[in-house]
Amino acid sequence: MAFDINMIKKVYSQVADRVNAAREVTGKPLTLAEKILYSHLWDVKTKKAFTRGKDYVDFAPDRIACQDATAQMALLQFMQAGKSKVAVPTTVHCDHLIQAKEGAAADLKNANDISSEVFNFLESVSDKYGIGFWKPGAGIIHQVVLENYAFPGGMMIGTDSHTVNAGGLGMVAIGVGGADAVDVMAGMAWELKFPKLIGVKLTGKLSGWTAPKDVILKVAEILTVKGGTGAIVEYFGPGATSMSCTGKGTICNMGAEIGATTSTFGYDESMERYLRATDRADVADAANEVKEHLTADPEVYANPEQYFDQVIEINLSELGPLLNGPFTPDLSTAVGSTMTEKAKANDWPIQVEWGLIGSCTNSSYEDLSRASSIAQQALDKGLKMKAELGINPGSEQVRYTADRDGILGIFEKLDAKIFTNACGPCIGQWARYNDPKNAPKNSIVHSFNRNFAKRADGNPNTHAFVASPELTAAIAVAGRLDFNPLTDKLINENGEEVMFDEPTGWELPPKGFEVKDNGYLAPVEDGSNVEVKVSPTSERLQLLTPFVPIGNEIKGAKLLIKAFGKCTTDHISMAGPWLRFRGHLDNISNNCLIGAVNAFGKKTNFVKNQLTGEFGGVPDTARAYKAAGVPTIVVGDHNYGEGSSREHAAMEPRHLGVAAVIVKSFARIHETNLKKQGMLGLTFANESDYDLIQEDDTFNFTDLDQFAAGKQLTLEIVHADGSKDTVMLNHTYNDSQIEWFQEGSALNLIKKQNA
Ligand code: F3S
Repeated sequence: MAFDINMIKKVYSQVADRVNAAREVTGKPLTLAEKILYSHLWDVKTKKAFTRGKDYVDFAPDRIACQDATAQMALLQFMQAGKSKVAVPTTVHCDHLIQAKEGAAADLKNANDISSEVFNFLESVSDKYGIGFWKPGAGIIHQVVLENYAFPGGMMIGTDSHTVNAGGLGMVAIGVGGADAVDVMAGMAWELKFPKLIGVKLTGKLSGWTAPKDVILKVAEILTVKGGTGAIVEYFGPGATSMSCTGKGTICNMGAEIGATTSTFGYDESMERYLRATDRADVADAANEVKEHLTADPEVYANPEQYFDQVIEINLSELGPLLNGPFTPDLSTAVGSTMTEKAKANDWPIQVEWGLIGSCTNSSYEDLSRASSIAQQALDKGLKMKAELGINPGSEQVRYTADRDGILGIFEKLDAKIFTNACGPCIGQWARYNDPKNAPKNSIVHSFNRNFAKRADGNPNTHAFVASPELTAAIAVAGRLDFNPLTDKLINENGEEVMFDEPTGWELPPKGFEVKDNGYLAPVEDGSNVEVKVSPTSERLQLLTPFVPIGNEIKGAKLLIKAFGKCTTDHISMAGPWLRFRGHLDNISNNCLIGAVNAFGKKTNFVKNQLTGEFGGVPDTARAYKAAGVPTIVVGDHNYGEGSSREHAAMEPRHLGVAAVIVKSFARIHETNLKKQGMLGLTFANESDYDLIQEDDTFNFTDLDQFAAGKQLTLEIVHADGSKDTVMLNHTYNDSQIEWFQEGSALNLIKKQNA
């Protein structure tokens, strides 16, 4: 059995007391999100009503899920914690490192050839530390989680932004960086700013061509890509309960595209049906016993304006199919409205070259069956595909069942490519072109979540539009962006005019789900003798060695770079081709800060080495200082380290000998990541002191031996002409974070405490 019913029963046995305590302390009825958050407090004895959008709170998540790209560094770090097993049930899913090209069998073989060392490492490290392992081809992390692990009222974190998909089964599930996942695996609390709450009331009922995807495409149009930032979106109302569980998953999945912390739905019959269909009747039975705690208090939904920070209402009976894009998921065009004019005005290619169905967003049995009903009509009505069609099933269980039920056969008759049960084109793992940078301008339609430039195929000229699977299928048949299947006729092979009927499908397979080998490998009971497989000559993986404490004597440090303007984690640790080195700290450190603009000369990756007077790239210069035993300082502007939460952006400078990052202000997650790696993350007490920093400066910390919570630090800046400035630096380290600094990293401290 892949899931842990005892853990779920334990959560349910405590939920009533914890929810009652939260109701008492807040003095009001509770939303579902609040019930889940308050019942997962790290310190259950906390008697405090938290302020939304303000208080940082420690939580105790029930589960962790990691995908193969992010799991590498997370697990390499976990190995440093000195634990024999993960503290919280954890799974690893191999789905990102499989390129779509020829079709499932050939592509999977190719991925196993290219990335076997990564897969073998993940399999062995999972086995050793009690982590469930899902092999390449087993499925996409979020579909596999929904089918196997998600449970109503649970809290989960995952090292992928679309972890939020599990909200479809009533969880609070949140995407995090690897460093956060490592903390929880090692038995520490997980900190989150208590989110704001957005309520979305769904009235009416979906029908005809309108799908759950259109609900979230509409929400994206209303809230835009930033509108959900720092908030949990809670869906409710008759429209919510009338939708399938996997449809709810689609809606929650794309909550990431509006910046939401996560999204969720209250427990209902669709979830119960899904749990039973996926062989989890015991979870459904257990949930039924506490179901009043797995949804909001009735007063909340009766009077939402009073309890949510913002309320949106959508009438599903009036909602029509939408096509969002290109280049951003919140740019909506209602099918049958203005696409022809918009495409002309903006020079979007009206002809569609590919339709892609699948990804973690829309690859359920229901999605495939509804899309296949359109494909079947194309066959029956003598229509030829105008665009190519590609399918990525969400899991082996979905693929096997859909194959058994003839669904995949229908797509194959239309010459569709059935790709591996993996991310594929959704994450740019699509060998569509030999030279994507110079590929022609074109349009594609897909049922994925993200449609930024280059996301699917690396071609900046591909205009990607997002739609439901059924609309994607219809547009792929018609080959035009402005095709409206509700009104437009197509000409078939016999020259006759034909129209599509409405799509039909099954919420769940009528004959039940079936699978031969779901691709799951359970860890051994005692992993102490399991050897973790990392070749010492590997380019892609490298075992970590504990960071040596920087110490209280930072004297004679040199300026590595004074970053000018925006410096996100992408500028600090670029993605793209560097992703292949995510498990090799030394190799990926060759991208350290290469995207940051140097304030002196305004160039990227061009800084002065004060020891030689020569100019060079940031990583090379840092390595030269490190080799000479000279610590370095990075100076930055406002909101330094915003963007993705990747821990590489803190680990790389630490690895290359940077002792302190001093900025006008930090993005909080990056600041915490620096602290976790045992570095100094400091801010100028006086912002304008940033201007004092010169290219040839040397730095001395004069009172680091008195480093204490709430006490400023003093920095002496010695300029090239011998003149000096003394500036005060603020910090947000608490006592235990100061211990991280003193021990060299948070993991060093955990290891010491375990010894
Ligand atoms: Fe994979 Fe795309 Fe989802 S990359 S996890 S299928 S967003």
